[in-house]
Amino acid sequence: MRTKKYLLSENDMPRQWYNIMADLPNGMEPPLHPGTGQPCGPEDLAPIFPMNLIEQEVSTQRWIDIPEEILEKYAIWRPSPLYRAYDLERALDTPAKIYYKNEGVSPAGSHKPNTAIAQAYYNKMAGTKKITTETGAGQWGSALAMCCSFFGIECKVFMVKISYNQKPYRRLMMETWGANCTASPSSETKAGRSILEKNPDSPGSLGMAISEAVEEAVSDENTKYALGSVLNHVMIHQSIIGLEAKKQMEMAGAYPDVIIGSAGGGSNFAGLAFPYALDKINGKDIDIIAVEPTSCPTMTRGPFAYDFGDTVQMTPLLPMHSLGHNFVPAPIHAGGLRYHGMAPLVSQLILDGIIRPESIHQLETFKAGMTFARSEGYISAPECNHAVAMTIREALKAKEEGKEKTILFNWSGHGLVDMAAYESFFRGKLFDHELPQEQIDAALKDLEPLPKPRQAT
Ligand SMILES: Cc1ncc(COP(=O)(O)O)c(C=O)c1O
Repeated sequence: MRTKKYLLSENDMPRQWYNIMADLPNGMEPPLHPGTGQPCGPEDLAPIFPMNLIEQEVSTQRWIDIPEEILEKYAIWRPSPLYRAYDLERALDTPAKIYYKNEGVSPAGSHKPNTAIAQAYYNKMAGTKKITTETGAGQWGSALAMCCSFFGIECKVFMVKISYNQKPYRRLMMETWGANCTASPSSETKAGRSILEKNPDSPGSLGMAISEAVEEAVSDENTKYALGSVLNHVMIHQSIIGLEAKKQMEMAGAYPDVIIGSAGGGSNFAGLAFPYALDKINGKDIDIIAVEPTSCPTMTRGPFAYDFGDTVQMTPLLPMHSLGHNFVPAPIHAGGLRYHGMAPLVSQLILDGIIRPESIHQLETFKAGMTFARSEGYISAPECNHAVAMTIREALKAKEEGKEKTILFNWSGHGLVDMAAYESFFRGKLFDHELPQEQIDAALKDLEPLPKPRQAT
């Protein structure tokens, strides 16, 4: 029988994370203090994050040991399987060989627990009693809720209002794991109240929910904030995906010509891609594609600039591709991809020509999700369908060109709690949202008074 999935034993699980900060071809510009505009020191981040995570955030050490307690929790679902998508290949009649890493096998259903476990652990070590966070589709909030419960930490999640209403089961998962989940913008914080005053019907955005979560964290010394994507330490934790995938691809006797991941803040994409990006930096020829929604085109239409991570300008200024901190994307179902910014590390590697960004409309992603479900069986999260759709495009291109390409993509999570989105698709209630340039230009006005990075675009 041909091999369908490549499995590693618990003993084969990587014992160190990979930090691409050590290998950036052109370095990276520092985050800036929101008040002074000067480079942020570790002490500036201390009201928000515990020092052990801040040390990782600024670390340039290539390999970072994974503590035993984290490995023990990872072992609940890791190492995750790598599949050869024979039936998708057949459905597309493509000569391409398609592989995917299944991160949907975690208890929360996505890659998010890879960093949630680590962040809960380091907070526990630092004595944190409560963690606040934001969540889009609810994948990150539910992952953090689970991991806080493992380590006995209280968890408070501000969930983007549109997703809160679209995805009640994610909220219930958070409650099952003991977290408190509030729709954002809420009247519980100053940030939320100021947003509601201007627009009582605001659907919310990740930027707004971050403002609320940060405000609550800085108002109490035993409370810290956790971010599910974007920051360097998150990219480090997610590298376990690519490190495992490399071993599994070796078992398959394959090496990818193309690597694909969906990108909201950049973490699942980076997790798979960065260990391979190192090979590309060292001369390998790989096409590494980060996929975003056309209605939130941070990488493909947003400039590389300094911008705030949140709406009410509480976070440090990050050097990243951004659509402006007040940009509110159309209410697409891939809630986890509705973020105005992109991880500085992903943004920098786009500038360096290592990563190629692409965008795809909502309807194409759902059609791709159907093709995948009807061939490989798994029902993907709407975010993940962006990676599936790009994989299908690349596989069809390989067919056109008559090339036997090897494609590896990150299947970042299942969509079993997103069936309302599928229902809207079946009933013809989903649309592609065109984003006029004037709307982007208006949102980018907010960047004008901010400092400019050296490599500003
Ligand atoms: C299943 C899934 N894939 C992808 C993403 C996008 O986030 P990131 O770019 O940080 O991986 C999310 C975010 O919520 C998600 O839930």
